[in-house]
Amino acid sequence: MIKQLGNLFVLETENSSYIFRVLDSGHLEHLYYGRKVTIQVEEDAEYLYPTRAFLPGNHAAYSEEYNTLSLESLCQEVSSLGKGDYSVPFVDVVCADGSRTCDFRFCGARIGSGSPDEDADGLPHSWAGDLGKTPQSLTVTLKDEEQKLSLEIAWYLYEECDVITRTAKIHNDSEGDVRLEALMSAQLDFPTRGTTDRGMILTTFTGGWAREMQRNDHHLTSGRYVSESLLGTSSSRANPFCMLRREASSEDYGEVYGFNLIYSGNHRESVEVNSGRIRFMTGIHPQGFEWQLKPGDDFSAPEAVFSFSGKGMNGLSHNMHDFIREHILRGPWAKKPRPVLLNSWEACFMDISEKRLTRFARAAKAAGIELLVMDDGWFGKRTDDTSSLGDWTPDSNKLPGGVTGLCKKINDIGLDFGIWVEPEMVNVDSDLYRAHPDWALEIPGHPHSEGRTQRVLDLTRPEVVDHLIEVMSELFGSADIKYVKWDMNRNFTDVFSSSLPPEEQGKVAHLYMIGLYRLMKTLTERFPQILFEGCASGGNRTDLGILCYFPQIWGSDNTDALCRAEIQNGYSYGYPLSVIGSHVSGVPNHQTLREAPLSSSYADASFDILGYECTLPDMSAADKKAIAKQVAFYKIWREVYFNGTFYRGR
Ligand code: DGJ
Repeated sequence: MIKQLGNLFVLETENSSYIFRVLDSGHLEHLYYGRKVTIQVEEDAEYLYPTRAFLPGNHAAYSEEYNTLSLESLCQEVSSLGKGDYSVPFVDVVCADGSRTCDFRFCGARIGSGSPDEDADGLPHSWAGDLGKTPQSLTVTLKDEEQKLSLEIAWYLYEECDVITRTAKIHNDSEGDVRLEALMSAQLDFPTRGTTDRGMILTTFTGGWAREMQRNDHHLTSGRYVSESLLGTSSSRANPFCMLRREASSEDYGEVYGFNLIYSGNHRESVEVNSGRIRFMTGIHPQGFEWQLKPGDDFSAPEAVFSFSGKGMNGLSHNMHDFIREHILRGPWAKKPRPVLLNSWEACFMDISEKRLTRFARAAKAAGIELLVMDDGWFGKRTDDTSSLGDWTPDSNKLPGGVTGLCKKINDIGLDFGIWVEPEMVNVDSDLYRAHPDWALEIPGHPHSEGRTQRVLDLTRPEVVDHLIEVMSELFGSADIKYVKWDMNRNFTDVFSSSLPPEEQGKVAHLYMIGLYRLMKTLTERFPQILFEGCASGGNRTDLGILCYFPQIWGSDNTDALCRAEIQNGYSYGYPLSVIGSHVSGVPNHQTLREAPLSSSYADASFDILGYECTLPDMSAADKKAIAKQVAFYKIWREVYFNGTFYRGR
């Protein structure tokens, strides 16, 4: 529940309290976030107020009136530059007069209810969930009276999950143009005690292709720690989920804070330790970002998610899992256990045909598998990855009956049918690129740095998004498609949109996300019966933004049993395993050449959403029998794997 007690704001979830107050100067002072404390009247919080008898040596005094107030050591809800705070700012604006000094002070507060409005800013957001657990909200308005800018910060309480989310919106009330260089999503300042800054660990999840979600523990001393992605996607290099925890914490004990962002693009999480405070910040990465705000314009940052647990990392994970299941996933598949599938990729790569796939379907049916997925290679003239992305018509040599005919044959065998697409991409060797070279993100007339010989379509252009809605709708409506694997295999380079003037190029990476979200929203609403699985060269875009539309994500291209155990363990800190797709693949493993037994692969994959990706028809009778047994066992326990509470042991 949210209470306003005079100048004090108390946000309470089932097991945590979050407290801040408005200082006489108008700044929001963050006071406390942690185990639930009892605050009934304003005076109950007095023990949390730091004394400011004198200005710390060498600090700048905020003003003549508040000459003992130093923003350098004040724990704040919203920080900016220029008035004596030298740490990473929450908001960074170049004002109409060219100055960068901003000072946002309290103007008003409103307690209400309801989740953030996704139609207002085109971004994905948390929602009440189908149990109707509408969050209480607090919206605080702050103003910079000198520069005529205002900020709206809103908190949303998902009490039963011990989760608080936060949004931020800036508005230009002045008569001049201003340049927004950063608007982060959440800031959390922790006061440090005494002379030492030690005592906290920042846990990040970094990696790369085929080695996603490797856990790192940084024991914080002094300085700045950063976890970030500038790839254009949330990325396998650094997932937006991270934790801050007390040194004494473990899987089952101690105080742990978790953070995530409902966003799929460039992001930065930073922790800064200096004398007197530890500052955590998360939001869109300011590098390469620039947004012109004309008079009257506003800009909204993505929603941030944070949670506190006094029951160690397992406790924190349970909060995040509950929150994602209840308040991020949506649509008919959100709570429904998923079918066991057989995917063609590792067995066939692009060498697919109707004949080969129906043979796979018959073997799958015999093993009890429920859905056959035709992966890459079915469209245009796609014999390798150098051509055809963008031309979403079936290759009639491979599929004489088209997608419709193949789907019918698979259905007749008794399996559901699924298909692979990569809508956001185009090959230079494609009819689409030949017709619309300006539809790709590239700098006209300049050499381009290629990735997998394909380019990223410019989703900042509404006509490109409209085109993709049309062609994908035609494809998804052309057969009884029950599952779509939505791939994205290319990081951004040469980021530039031909449709925007030079001074607006700093918008491209974020506008791309807005276009992508419109595309995913339209298609998932238009085809609610389809189970969508996100994928980006494995887990290069596993985040809460994608999960607002697609209820599952392919966790990694690495299907090796040993590597997978580590990757899945990493995911489990921030994401329920019921949103991660995982497959049992052939032996030896394609990525590592390790000869782990099928049973080890199964032991991993069954904790996620189980699938197979192997040459099933050609496997030995013993292996086929083993797989049939695994599938039968999984079906008995599927509900538990899917909805159970997952504890990490040692
Ligand atoms: C990358 C994905 O992660 C793979 O599973 C597969 O779908 C390929 N792309 C297809 O090109």
